[in-house]
Amino acid sequence: MMLRSWMAPLGLHIEPAQPRDADAAAKLHAASFYRGWPREDLEAYVLDSDTPTLVACDKHRKLAGFAMLRLLGDDVELMTIAVDPKFRGKGVGEALLKACFEDLLMTPARRMLLEVAADNPAAIRLYEKAGFKQISERKGYYARPNGQPATALVMARDLN
Ligand SMILES: CC(C)(COP(=O)(O)OP(=O)(O)OC[C@H]1O[C@@H](n2cnc3c(N)ncnc32)[C@H](O)[C@@H]1OP(=O)(O)O)[C@@H](O)C(=O)NCCC(=O)NCCS
Repeated sequence: MMLRSWMAPLGLHIEPAQPRDADAAAKLHAASFYRGWPREDLEAYVLDSDTPTLVACDKHRKLAGFAMLRLLGDDVELMTIAVDPKFRGKGVGEALLKACFEDLLMTPARRMLLEVAADNPAAIRLYEKAGFKQISERKGYYARPNGQPATALVMARDLN
């Protein structure tokens, strides 16, 4: 069996999420997005084999980031990726994506899809660097505090 553990920058490592990570992941998600996800939802996703989730954490299991996928047959959707603001810009997000690509080799998924807000250049750069290309866009997709919804870019990358 393939060992599901990867090295990450800053002495962190990446491994599958556990239900006990749901609390920290919910806090991290709330710190990263205008609309957070309830802890209960995150815990349910972690327990569901159709939504594999990887965490980047230290040896005391303090979370620095996580990525959550949804398996959809040939396709897999990157549902969310978030890195703690204190740990950003150090390669943790990139390491999480790479671990996802490797982890998906054990599944039928051949293409990864994601939506990203057009006003989120950090995430767009991260995805472009990882080989994603824009395939379409969805206007007015994301709610924004100022009431002006933001466009989503749909991006895709083949997995091989
Ligand atoms: C997007 C996010 C996950 C990136 O995580 P990160 O660990 O900071 O990213 P990394 O350090 O691995 O950066 C990898 C690449 O992404 C790009 N990038 C990351 N942060 C960037 C920034 N602030 N500005 C421009 N490019 C950036 C760069 O190309 C970088 O590579 P480089 O350092 O060689 O130039 C993180 O900023 C985050 O959690 N943001 C809030 C949540 C979010 O927007 N998630 C994506 C939703 S679709």
